Amino acid sequence: MNVPVYPLADWRRHGQLATFTPNRKLPVYNWLYYKEGYARDLVWTLLDRFKLNGPLLDPFCGSGTTLLACAQRGIPSVGYDVQSVALLASLVKTTPYDRDTLKAIADALLSERFVPEPGPVLPIMKRAFSKHNLADVLFWKKQVDQVKNPACRNFFLLALITAAMKGSWLFKDGGVLKVKKRPVAPVKLLFKRTVRKWIKELGTQDLRAPARVVAQDARHIEGRYENVITSPPYLNNIDYTKVYQVENWFLGATGTPIRSWIGNEGKQLPLLKKFDLPYAAHAYFSDMNTVLKEMHKALVPGGRAALVVGNAYFAPLEQHVEVDFILSFLAEKIGFSIEEIGVLQERYALQRRTVKRGTIRESCVMLQRS
Ligand SMILES: C[S@@+](CC[C@H](N)C(=O)[O-])C[C@H]1O[C@@H](n2cnc3c(N)ncnc32)[C@H](O)[C@@H]1O
Repeated sequence: MNVPVYPLADWRRHGQLATFTPNRKLPVYNWLYYKEGYARDLVWTLLDRFKLNGPLLDPFCGSGTTLLACAQRGIPSVGYDVQSVALLASLVKTTPYDRDTLKAIADALLSERFVPEPGPVLPIMKRAFSKHNLADVLFWKKQVDQVKNPACRNFFLLALITAAMKGSWLFKDGGVLKVKKRPVAPVKLLFKRTVRKWIKELGTQDLRAPARVVAQDARHIEGRYENVITSPPYLNNIDYTKVYQVENWFLGATGTPIRSWIGNEGKQLPLLKKFDLPYAAHAYFSDMNTVLKEMHKALVPGGRAALVVGNAYFAPLEQHVEVDFILSFLAEKIGFSIEEIGVLQERYALQRRTVKRGTIRESCVMLQRS
């Protein structure tokens, strides 16, 4: 492909940090399993390596890793996302809760006696839960919805979502939600355990600066920032509204696709016409170009942005798309200089899930606003 080639730095010792895996062992960070997330230590590494002090923006904040990692380092931050469950997780993880208030509500809530609560559920939920667990979900959702304090209600709602997902037979396989029956604990038990555990974990939350969570499309950025650390959606066909439909159901989301997804609507960017890109990639880069322009506007002169991105392989066309290079090319045209492209990890590009067709990398593109 005819894209300018940028030098790559080897950051592969940070490989796992491009994934959510290390967060799974960290209190508070692991309050919602967000497969698309990255690790706390990636954020801390970037803050140290590039001496970033904020105020900082994550325009695709997902489950709130950047916001919590910044808050723990005393850096104020703002996060945008368009998915309900991501916004909820970001908010709950960065809210300074009073443990005694939560304990008192938990004592009252968890002693409620079970009564069956009918209610509309998504078709997939009937396959994803046993009859008992679905009844538990409906009962506990009704109790949680009645918690008067909105911040505390959010805490219990996120705990219920996490408990319910553990008590379901669902698993996420790439962009597809699958059901596989296996032994699972009762949701009632999982919920009670989760609430008690999280209240204890609040002792390690250690918030030293505020984080603001905003339901906003990253293609429109407001405010001024010193830095951006973010990971936009990858160039693939994962529809977050499908994969997270059950989690979003708890928040009243209907599961219908949100039109604001990056890469949803295709128009060709004149700048990229000369490149041989698959059709779907044009929609993605046209949206990302808008995001880059908005980031440029929002950053102070000299401000830095770190973008964690993954390259793509279009199997039917046997075509590699070097997302890190193309975004760098677009960013340069907008007025950024490319400080470094750090390769975080490489994996095989697979055709029909088995045939290896070279490698694709995940990298961190470091930009500086001129
Ligand atoms: C790769 S994930 C970010 C994960 C995050 N770094 C974490 O650790 O949890 C990308 C996020 O972008 C969000 N997103 C997709 N389109 C968006 C848009 N137009 N504006 C803002 N956020 C969007 C998705 O909901 C998803 O949470």
